[in-house]
Amino acid sequence: MSHDDFPTENPAVVTCGLPYANGDLHIGHLRTYISGDAYARALEKLGQETAFVSGSDMHGTPVAVNAEKRGVSPEEFALEHHEKYAETFPRFNVEFDNYGHTHDETNTELTQSFVRSWVENDHVFEKEIQVAWDPEADTPLPDRYVEGTCPYCGAKARGDECDEGCQRHLEPGEIEDPVSTITGNPAEYRTREHKFLRLSDFQEYLKGFIDRLEGTSNARNQPKEWIEGELQDLCITRDMDWGIDYPGEGKEDLVLYVWVDAPIEYVSSTKQYTERVGADEYDWEEVWKAGAPEADAPEAADDETWDDADTGDIVHVIGRDIIQHHTVFWPSMLRGAGYNEPRAVMASGFVNLDGQAFSTSRNRAVWADDYLDEGLDPDLVRYYLTTTGGFQQDVDFSWEKFQERVNGELVGTLGNFAYRSLLFAARNYDGAPDADTSEEVASRIEDAVADFEEAVNDYSLKQAGDAAVALAGFGNEYIQRNEPWNLTGDDGESRSDSESPSGDEPRGPTRAEQVIYDCVQIAKAVAVLSAPILPGKAQTLWEQLGEEGSVHDANLDACLQSPPGEFGEPDELFDKIEDERVEQLNEKLQERIEAATDDSGEDATEESEDDTMSEDIQPVKEDRISFEDFQDLDIRVGEIEVAEPIEGADDLARLEVDIGTETRQIVAGIKQLHDLDALPGTKVVVVANLEQAELFGVESNGMVLAAGEEADLLTTHEDSVPGTKVR
Ligand code: MSP
Ligand code: ZN
Repeated sequence: MSHDDFPTENPAVVTCGLPYANGDLHIGHLRTYISGDAYARALEKLGQETAFVSGSDMHGTPVAVNAEKRGVSPEEFALEHHEKYAETFPRFNVEFDNYGHTHDETNTELTQSFVRSWVENDHVFEKEIQVAWDPEADTPLPDRYVEGTCPYCGAKARGDECDEGCQRHLEPGEIEDPVSTITGNPAEYRTREHKFLRLSDFQEYLKGFIDRLEGTSNARNQPKEWIEGELQDLCITRDMDWGIDYPGEGKEDLVLYVWVDAPIEYVSSTKQYTERVGADEYDWEEVWKAGAPEADAPEAADDETWDDADTGDIVHVIGRDIIQHHTVFWPSMLRGAGYNEPRAVMASGFVNLDGQAFSTSRNRAVWADDYLDEGLDPDLVRYYLTTTGGFQQDVDFSWEKFQERVNGELVGTLGNFAYRSLLFAARNYDGAPDADTSEEVASRIEDAVADFEEAVNDYSLKQAGDAAVALAGFGNEYIQRNEPWNLTGDDGESRSDSESPSGDEPRGPTRAEQVIYDCVQIAKAVAVLSAPILPGKAQTLWEQLGEEGSVHDANLDACLQSPPGEFGEPDELFDKIEDERVEQLNEKLQERIEAATDDSGEDATEESEDDTMSEDIQPVKEDRISFEDFQDLDIRVGEIEVAEPIEGADDLARLEVDIGTETRQIVAGIKQLHDLDALPGTKVVVVANLEQAELFGVESNGMVLAAGEEADLLTTHEDSVPGTKVR
């Protein structure tokens, strides 16, 4: 990989996975849009020229199915949602430079031109396939019109994706035991002719691409298996009326598959932005086209061609469920039409409730509208979603955790620091006293700026947010250490340059003035650094500091530029969330979850997923160990004889385990996850020669093996007796 660090000379574009225009937005969707917005703002802070675009995904069966249920045309239905989304995003401070939709003229034309390029470059072929058909309704059943079993993992799946299991995209005809979602009848198969994009043409190219790709590691690792295996060609047409017409003779009854025109909206939306502001201001072609190797050039598979290419910086922000579309199909689509490739894919973990994915149809979600109706500030959920755990990790939404983050870091650290320093400054000096930033503080701010820059280049929003909050934390510690309120009399009035000759020379600041000036400078830097994640609050702080204009126009250099001299007393930036409030919020949420669980409606699986998928599966370590190293482990079959809770320890249990030669006392982190009374008699697998340890004052002599966060205990399946060696 050889991209220059941000900021680069090229224009960048940050895109967000398009929301299907088929329902209400929930906090899970918002993770994509808030992260995209924060990342685009963070790039701009570095001085990177950036456009931030997205649009509504109007086509496909998710929209058609729901429009039908409502008895309106798909167009009317989708447009209504599109308009609603366009209004909702700014209420979360998500400010797109352009927000279009896939059914508009720009996208229709551009999509058809992509397809024509693929045809010209010989990447499209026609094939007869078996498509699912509803015999009673006498209609074809594309994608979500059919449900059945995933041929790869056996999970219940939708026609075009294994949403509850392995998350693979499924081609028409692949799903097993297909059932029509229209009539509930078993589907038949009928022969139809369809168009395909020959993905195998791009296999070599994709192998290079995936190694160049930046962003989160899940986006590189998850698709490797597919890219290195046999690439299945992508059926790009569907038997439907709703969609963009296939641009070719004799195929008037086919529309393009929704995943063809949806990502092309990233390009269309950027183009519309250029049309609005002018190419001198921002040129979409420079981002998406300039510098890309010719579509039909064989050397384009060559990494060096790309390494040398002076291409735009395209960053896609999505949820982890659509990695395959963005790292296998989309780069091939771009390559096949002579467009640039993405520089980075940032794929976030999911937002779940009680470990299970949100479900739109079950009303099992925290809705964007409900959040706003509660009168909660949008910046709070922005902070919670971007900085709770790593970007790739799933977040189990909880109001307690939300409260903890808000009260701890936003109220306690950031808000507290800003308030106490600005109040002290306003009361004693009517603003920032006359001074220069001390060396200690200047260097701490420089470190925070460096952390922030590194965070952006590492695609880590959490690290970017931490840089701002940690600087405020330093500010608190700095005030505490210097106690400006005690710096009175001789001590407080002493001047840092008291040794310089007196006379006409301006007098240096007193120690108290120096400390407060430093704090105001830190507050200014905190405003700049927190602006991407807390756009509204950072602007308020900016204004409290007496700064003019928008904090979003200030770049990182502003962190060390002197703050204006005068300002009045500030208000507190954040309100504490009280326990009673959390209780109320929880009650409402709980009522909803219970209502959702009671409703055993047939369509209850929408957007749900397998529990086992909620844990992020890490790639296998590259370093291998030798067989000898493995043999050093003495692993034995054991049998639990006693299992008791350990008082005071949240999740630890004390076990007595028979390992054949003796009975061992072992401490295991399984208290909350198992019914301890039911454990005696259970066979387990024990690392018998692990060094002894003391946990919560209890000696632990060995380790019981268990899988994952739920501590799924490993056991044996036949009658191995305790003490048997495991190899
Ligand atoms: N329309 C497609 C994306 C097309 S992109 C060319 C789609 N739409 S969606 O409405 O289902 O999802 C929109 C965005 O929200 C996607 O980035 C998706 O990954 C994300 N999420 C949807 N539910 C989510 C959670 N529960 N948690 C986190 N992100 C989730 O997919
Ligand atoms: Zn599957």
